[in-house]
Amino acid sequence: MDHRGPEFGRLGGEILEGLREVFKTSGPVIIYPASGTGAWEAALVNTLSPGSKVLMFETGHFATLWRSMAGELGLQVDCVATDWRRGADPAIVEAKLREDSGHEIQAIAVVHNETSTGVASRIGEIRRAIDNAGHPALLLVDTISSLASIDYRHDEWGVDVTVAGSQKGLMLPPGLSFNAVSEKAIAASKSAQLRKSYWAWEPMLNANRNGFFPYTPGTNLLYGLREALLMLREEGLENVFARHARLGEAARRAVRTWGLEILCANPAEYSNSLTAVRVPDGYNADELRKVILENFNMSLGNGLGRLQGKVFRIGHLGDFNELMLAGTLCGVEMGLSLYGVPFSKGGVAAALEHLEQTATAQSAVTQGVA
Ligand SMILES: Cc1ncc(COP(=O)(O)O)c(C=O)c1O
Repeated sequence: MDHRGPEFGRLGGEILEGLREVFKTSGPVIIYPASGTGAWEAALVNTLSPGSKVLMFETGHFATLWRSMAGELGLQVDCVATDWRRGADPAIVEAKLREDSGHEIQAIAVVHNETSTGVASRIGEIRRAIDNAGHPALLLVDTISSLASIDYRHDEWGVDVTVAGSQKGLMLPPGLSFNAVSEKAIAASKSAQLRKSYWAWEPMLNANRNGFFPYTPGTNLLYGLREALLMLREEGLENVFARHARLGEAARRAVRTWGLEILCANPAEYSNSLTAVRVPDGYNADELRKVILENFNMSLGNGLGRLQGKVFRIGHLGDFNELMLAGTLCGVEMGLSLYGVPFSKGGVAAALEHLEQTATAQSAVTQGVA
């Protein structure tokens, strides 16, 4: 397809409009033919200048990578350490911003759902903390593993740049990433001095007005994105969130019944996209994953960074339903037995009981099995 032709313009226009619903924004959403890391860089280079101060939280592996990128780009990062078992603390945000009476902090950058830990930070509360401190810093949020899976509200939460990717809640292959941008972020981009070319918002926003892009877009992925947006609209975003919450709760019930520990230490921050599970000391999560892969051809997420060998991750996001979760949990339960981890059987049964008790005909219809 000619990506400068009228048919493409219609596709582009439809997608750029439809994406707003998913981010819950009335502003523009920029699409890059890049993985999520590209959209991280775009968020920083379009809004900030060399030496700008940024407040970040080391909530896990991905937050650590984003922090490193900010350092490499020449930003001055104040990074609050955590034990990788909880999210960014709104009380610390407020305290740090109150201390900064000269308003030197230009931005707060938070990973909404830490894919490495299964912890979801409370973005609405972080917004309130910023407002309580009366601080003008921009709020940048990574929703790569939460968009279209966990409740997220770009406009209502006053987020300035939302970073997202195609390969999780949007149910697509990797290769597209996004910046939803507020008016305040666009205003900041007019004076931001970090160097940029490929990631620059302005040529994107100009070309997007007619449904086009300043360089070759990921055309095939955009066809998929149109379909993904239709699927999300058909199911209804709130139903999508409820489905993820229900599957997440069933997974957590299985883990508790096995007598294993959920990595996330704060139930208010449980992720509905994935559950990271600690293996008991003396056991290696990667050995367990290998047993499950070799016997049941199922690949679980590994422990990343400092969690390597200590946790495995059960993904339950995107195009996912009860029976897929049931199969996943069966593979884990059999793998725990085969590998010889001390645990109690019955996790699968506990998950199934929850799914059965909370079943609605609506959930079957929206998942296309009715
Ligand atoms: C929360 C989060 N942020 C950033 C990234 C990096 O995105 P990508 O690997 O698409 O560049 C990932 C990847 O999984 C992620 O889960």
